[in-house]
Formats: sequence, structure tokens, C-alpha cells
Amino acid sequence: MTSSPAPTPAMNDLLHSIWESLHAGAGAGRSPFSVLQAATVGVDGNPKVRTIILRDVNESLARLSFHTDIRSDKVRELRGRPAISMHGYDAERLVQIRLEGVASFMTDEAEKLAVWKSSRPRTLILYRSPIASGSVIEDPAQAQAPDAADPMSGYENFCLVHVSVQRIDYLDLSSEPHHRAQFQLRDKGAFEGHWVAP
Ligand SMILES: Cc1cc2nc3c(=O)[nH]c(=O)nc-3n(C[C@H](O)[C@H](O)[C@H](O)COP(=O)(O)O)c2cc1C
Repeated sequence: MTSSPAPTPAMNDLLHSIWESLHAGAGAGRSPFSVLQAATVGVDGNPKVRTIILRDVNESLARLSFHTDIRSDKVRELRGRPAISMHGYDAERLVQIRLEGVASFMTDEAEKLAVWKSSRPRTLILYRSPIASGSVIEDPAQAQAPDAADPMSGYENFCLVHVSVQRIDYLDLSSEPHHRAQFQLRDKGAFEGHWVAP
């Protein structure tokens, strides 16, 4: 028996609830989607994945943002090939969200500065490290960021990555039958979705 496609309003509601979950992840309190995995294509052609903190979600632009160090491998990888996949899992609701998109770097200096200034100082210390992420060192203490009175210290290493989401894969294992849906960004900037077999 073939399953009939869900009516459009249900798909729209589901899409909106996905963005709501992501919004909560980027909010002030911790939520399951605050911490995501981001995968890139390595310069050696192999997949690379790492954890990032979701910092901003803009549903109308279909965009997620995270902070990173301009000296990191992921930046080098994204400059070579901006394809990026993100993954998050809510273990209580048994919901997985996978996203595919295209990464770009925030170039608006005023906006970047505003983000830096609005970030908690504790989260910015890493950018002060004198040694680039991934460099071989003899002792972990070598990469420790020095105390700095200057609140702009490390700013030159700070960068903001925007991910323009083009595809979403949603899986909910909490119901029987399990629900899985996929959404694809179409030309007019709207997502088109359908159920798929889990
Ligand atoms: C809980 C957690 C949160 C992290 N958040 C970020 C982040 O927001 N941005 C980031 O660049 N790295 C973050 N990291 C570190 C990355 O996972 C990764 O180790 C580092 O960025 C180097 O990755 P790369 O060599 O692939 O560029 C986080 C790690 C953990 C465990």
C-alpha cells in the first residue's frame, strides 16, 4: 500500500516546528539543538565532522549561523568547498534534524563587531590563543589564551559562518509509524516538503 502525501498545511506546520526547534537551540537557554554537528568536505576529500554551538537562526532567510576561528581547518575547507551538512538530535523527543546548505562568511564588519561585542567574554577567550587550531604543540599549555585586558583581543581570529539551508531531513521516532520528511528549497525561496519512508 502506498502512503498518500500529507496535506500541505501539515507539511507547513512541520516545517515551522523544525525552525522553532532550531530557534530554541540558538536561544539563551540550553536546548537539544544548541549543540549541532557540522560536516564539511576535507581538503583530502574525506568527510570531516565536528561539534559547533548554534548561535543564530533566521527562518525567513533559511539561515543558521555559528562562530568559529578563522585559522581552523573547517574555514579552510569551506573556502575550498562551501558545502556543509549539519545534524542535531533531541534525545527526549527522539527527533533528528539534518540540514544541508552552503556556507558563507560574514563580511559586514559592523555586524561582525556587533556580534563580537554581544557575545559572552568567556566564549571569546579561545580566539586569543597564539597558536592556530590544529597546530602540533608539545604541551597543551602552549595554546592557552593569555589574559588580556583588551576586549578586542582575538577579534582578528573571530569569524561568523552563515549556512544557507537548502535541504532539511526530519525524522521523528516517537510515533508509530515513525515520521520522516524532507524539504527542498525551491527557486522562489520556499521549501517544498514531502513524507518519505523512514
Ligand atoms: C560542546 C562543544 C562546542 C563547540 N562549539 C564550537 C563552535 O561553536 N565553533 C567552533 O569552531 N568549534 C566549536 N567546538 C570545537 C569543534 O568541535 C572543533 O574541535 C574545532 O572547531 C576544530 O575543528 P576543525 O579542525 O574541524 O576546524 C566545540 C566543541 C564542543 C565539544
